[in-house]
Amino acid sequence: MDSLTLRKTTREDMPSIFAIEQASFVSPWNVHTFLTALHNRRSCNITARCNGEIVGYCFSLGMKNMVHLLNLAVHPDFRRQGIARRLLGEIFSFARSHGKSYVFLEVRKSNESAKRLYASVGFTHVSTWQRYYSDSGEDASIMVKRLERTDG
Ligand SMILES: CC(C)(COP(=O)(O)OP(=O)(O)OC[C@H]1O[C@@H](n2cnc3c(N)ncnc32)[C@H](O)[C@@H]1OP(=O)(O)O)[C@@H](O)C(=O)NCCC(=O)NCCS
Repeated sequence: MDSLTLRKTTREDMPSIFAIEQASFVSPWNVHTFLTALHNRRSCNITARCNGEIVGYCFSLGMKNMVHLLNLAVHPDFRRQGIARRLLGEIFSFARSHGKSYVFLEVRKSNESAKRLYASVGFTHVSTWQRYYSDSGEDASIMVKRLERTDG
């Protein structure tokens, strides 16, 4: 997809992001949660645009020696075109440039598409947090990627 551009997320992006969020999750983040993540000085938040239209985003937070991937979604009409993989590449670059060694995340056990995405870019399952999701009581899979200096 050659018309895809990636940029730092701003407050002006929030309405489009919020619409994608609503279309993507059973328990979407609320606006307050997005704004808290956006204003955190340790965060790296990236928005993907296709022909100017916001089509995906990710939110992440730098921690001691790792980055926590907090949220990632792609507009339903733009999935399976490599956008999430591109967004994750930006997070890996951010993490490496800040001297971090790992990226980790939690994902619902039933979310096969996301688990496949993460496995395809080098994450592995390291732990299960039982009944982590309060809406359904579903378990979370904790996945970690160790960053090599040459990772894309
Ligand atoms: C998960 C999600 C972010 C993937 O976004 P995407 O832009 O479609 O992903 P990509 O096109 O970059 O896919 C990269 C790889 O992930 C895997 N993958 C992605 N979606 C998949 C699906 N529906 N079924 C199987 N594998 C899938 C494939 O290995 C794919 O590579 P391929 O297309 O060459 O086979 C998107 O489906 C989404 O927004 N889902 C709802 C929100 C969500 O679950 N977010 C993650 C929360 S932890």
